[in-house]
Amino acid sequence: MQVKITSKEILNWYYGNKRELPFRFTKDPYKIWISEIMLQQTQMKTVIPFYNRWIDTFPTLKSVAMAKSDKILKLWEGLGYYRRCLNFHKASKIVMEKYHGRIPNDYKIFRSLPGVGEYTAGAVLSIAFGVQISAIDGNVNRLLSRLNGIKNLTKRNRLIIKNKIKSLLIGDIVPGDLNQALMELGALVCIPKNPLCYDCPLSHVCKAYRNGNPELYPIKIKRPSKPHLEVVTAIIWRKQKFYIQKRSKKQMLGGLWEFPGGKVEKGETLENALVREIEEECLFTPDIIKRATSINHTYSHFSITMHCYHCKEKKKKITSQNPFNWISVKDIDKYSFPKANHKIFNFMSKNGWHI
Ligand code: ADE
Repeated sequence: MQVKITSKEILNWYYGNKRELPFRFTKDPYKIWISEIMLQQTQMKTVIPFYNRWIDTFPTLKSVAMAKSDKILKLWEGLGYYRRCLNFHKASKIVMEKYHGRIPNDYKIFRSLPGVGEYTAGAVLSIAFGVQISAIDGNVNRLLSRLNGIKNLTKRNRLIIKNKIKSLLIGDIVPGDLNQALMELGALVCIPKNPLCYDCPLSHVCKAYRNGNPELYPIKIKRPSKPHLEVVTAIIWRKQKFYIQKRSKKQMLGGLWEFPGGKVEKGETLENALVREIEEECLFTPDIIKRATSINHTYSHFSITMHCYHCKEKKKKITSQNPFNWISVKDIDKYSFPKANHKIFNFMSKNGWHI
């Protein structure tokens, strides 16, 4: 016999077990929106301090729209996936200009804003405006897969999951609470490894639990291993200052500052690659003094080893096409840099900056 789960059972568990997250004390759509953007691909415990700092600095959407992108990127520094931040900045300006500062509560309109996907639209509209719509993240997909004995998250099965949730979002059920209850159950109880089925209010109707090994649901798709790149960068010294440049907004990590450099090509020595990259980017030939350090870093789709060299300018002065600056060590905090650059800074702070 098929046993049905009810929204009430899920909500009862939620009201008794939910975490007191800072964005759960507000109905301000702006605050809920930024929390959902920060939570994309990022763990809750990482997000909370960033969220609190952000709201202290930018209490309203208008304050975001009016801020310079350098300032918002600085606040985002360390959270990763910087495109989210730039998209949110763009979206904030659109809302100010096109919608008179009012965040649209219409799915199609809100979904059309930069950086707003199906999940984010569902989460923000249901939580902030009470729209009866699902918000399905990875945790919810896992929970519903296990409940329904779904092994493969095919397009068809995703639709089945969506319809199951739709059938729970009925009557006087508060959609934002139900969506968050499903996320919370997935995040706290129906976890990927060693799920806590004995604490689960739904284990009595869970097909994966009944089948004996819930961890097998849904089958994880093995991602191809990430490509690895060798990268060279230069700390180009002019007295006590070194050269940094700003990445173009169109690039990955766009808007962040960095040491100049780039990828080592097949058959190239590190030094040859560095000279070539600096000639291309800065239009002058560097004088390589010595290697500073090498660090490893993993990005979402590839990993790098970055070899960093102390250099000086040779003859011609630097004339980069991109915005650039000469900064001293104490100025580092005024700019936002990718994590890999911070690893270099940390090494230098411990081992000495001087050549
Ligand atoms: N993950 C993303 N948004 C969330 C929310 N509002 N509650 C719980 N987990 C989440």
